[in-house]
Amino acid sequence: MTTPTELWHKLASLPRPTLGELFSAQRDGGEGADEPAGAARVAMLSGRIELGDGGILFDWSKTHLDRDVVAAFEELAEAMDFGGMRAKLFAGEIVNPTEGRAADHATLRGTGDPAKVEEAAALIDRMGMLVEAIHAGALGEIEHLIHIGIGGSALGPALGVDALSRDLSYCDVHVVSNIDGVALEQAFAACDPAKTLVAVASKTFTTIETMTNAESALKWLRDNGVSDPGGRVIALTAAPEKAVEWGVDETRILPFQESVGGRYSIWSSIGFPIAMAVGMDDFRAMLAGARAIDEHFRDTDGAANLVLRAAFADLYYSRVRGCQTRAVFAYDERLGLFPDYLQQLEMESNGKSVTADMQPVEGPTAPITWGGVGTDAQHAVFQLLHQGTHLIPVDFIASIAPGDDLDAAHHRILLMNCFAQGAALMAGKAGEDPARNYPGDRPSATMLCDDLDAATLGALIAFHEHRTFANAVLMGINPFDQFGVELGKQMAKAIEKGGEQFDASTDALLKAAGLG
Ligand code: F6P
Repeated sequence: MTTPTELWHKLASLPRPTLGELFSAQRDGGEGADEPAGAARVAMLSGRIELGDGGILFDWSKTHLDRDVVAAFEELAEAMDFGGMRAKLFAGEIVNPTEGRAADHATLRGTGDPAKVEEAAALIDRMGMLVEAIHAGALGEIEHLIHIGIGGSALGPALGVDALSRDLSYCDVHVVSNIDGVALEQAFAACDPAKTLVAVASKTFTTIETMTNAESALKWLRDNGVSDPGGRVIALTAAPEKAVEWGVDETRILPFQESVGGRYSIWSSIGFPIAMAVGMDDFRAMLAGARAIDEHFRDTDGAANLVLRAAFADLYYSRVRGCQTRAVFAYDERLGLFPDYLQQLEMESNGKSVTADMQPVEGPTAPITWGGVGTDAQHAVFQLLHQGTHLIPVDFIASIAPGDDLDAAHHRILLMNCFAQGAALMAGKAGEDPARNYPGDRPSATMLCDDLDAATLGALIAFHEHRTFANAVLMGINPFDQFGVELGKQMAKAIEKGGEQFDASTDALLKAAGLG
C-alpha cells in the first residue's frame, strides 16, 4: 500500500489545470481528457443534503479538485484509516488519546452508541423541563438571561441566539465572555435585575474569566435588591460537583458529559440560552439538522461524502498549494458570528504541531480561519482576494429564502453579489493595465441553504465539526485536545501570585501597569 508520505508527494506532483481549464473542455486530447467539464463538473462536485423540510446544496466545483486529485485523496483516506477512525468516533471509543476520552457530541443529536444516546437524551430532556418551567413562570417573571461563559461555552450560544431569535424571542439573552468588566456592565445596563436569570456556563467550572464574571453578576443582583441571588443562577457544566461547591442548588444544575468537548458543546446544556430564546422545539430542530449531517457523514464513503470532499479541498489548498488561510463569508446577516464560531472550532482543534502518535507533523495543519459577512466584506477586504498575492480559498454561505420582510430587491441583490464574487474570483479578467488586471483562477465553495432555520444552522455547524475531524484524520492529528491554551493560563496565574520574575520586557510591562 502506498504510504501517506508518498501520497502527499503524488498530490504535489499532479498536473495543476486552472479552474478555467477544468470548467471548459480545453484538456481535450491531453492528460485528464475525460475529466468532466461544464455542467458535468458541477454535477460531479455538487451535492445536496436533505434536512427534512429543506436542505443545503454544497457546490465545490469552483475548487481545483479534479478526478486525479480526488482519487489521490481517497487513497490517502484509506491509508489514514479514515473509515476506522470515523467508526471509532461514532462508536464512542477513545479518539482523544492524550486525554483518554471519546468525543460524544453527536450522541446529543441522537447519533452514536445507543447507551450514550440514551444518556444524552435524558440530559436534554432535563434541560427542556427546566426551560419550559421557566417559560411558564416557575422562577417568576423572567425577561432577561445573562449567559456567562467563554470559548466554547459562549461562542455557540452567541451564534445560536443571534441567528435564530431575530423574529421571535421568548427571552432577551446577553452572552458575556470577556473578563473586561465593560462587557458585563453593558449586559447589566440592558437588564432589569428583578427579571434577570444568570446562566454560568463552564465545562470545568473553574475558568477564571467565567467565575469572576459570575461573582460580579451575583453581586449586581444582590446590590439591586434581589433577595436570593443564588436562586437566579443556572449552572451549565460537566463538573456539577464544582457548581454545588460554588453554591448552585442541584435542581438548577444542567450537567453534560465530560466526553463532550468545549467547542463541540452547543448541543448540550451549554445551548440552554438558545432554548431559552427560541424554545425547545427549535432547539430540537437544530439537533435534528445536525443529525442529518451525522448520518450523511457516517454512511457515505469516498468523495460522495460531502464533508470528506470539503476536507480534501481544504488539505489540497493548505498542504499542496501552501495556502495559509481560508476565508468564510456568510451572505446572511444572521450568520455574522459564524466565522468567529468556526475560528475556535477549526483553529483550536487542528492548530497542532504533532501527530496523534506524538511525531512532528509532515506539513502545515489548520490554516487560519477568518471571514465576515457579505456584502460588507466586499467593500472592505475583497480587494485582497481578487488582486492580492495570497491564494485564499473562500467559502460562501447563503440562504435562498430571505431573512427579512422588506422589498425582495434586498435579498435578490444580496444573493446576486454572493454568486458574482465566486464567478469573478474564478474567471478574473485581463485588464488593459496591470492595476486593472484580475488574475482569476481563485477558488471558492458555496453552501446554498434553502432557508436559514434552526435545522439548517444545526446542519451547518455539524458539517464543520465533521469537516474539522476529517481534516484531522487525514493529517493524523488529534483534534480534540487543546494544550496550547494552557501555558498562557499558567503564566497569568504566576503573575497574579507574584514574586516571580519573567523576561525583561514582561517585567517592565507589569511595572508600567502597576502590577509588578
Ligand atoms: O482555554 C480554552 C478552553 O478550554 C476552551 O476549549 C473552552 O471552550 C473554554 O476554554 C472554556 O472552558 P470552560 O467551559 O471549562 O469554562
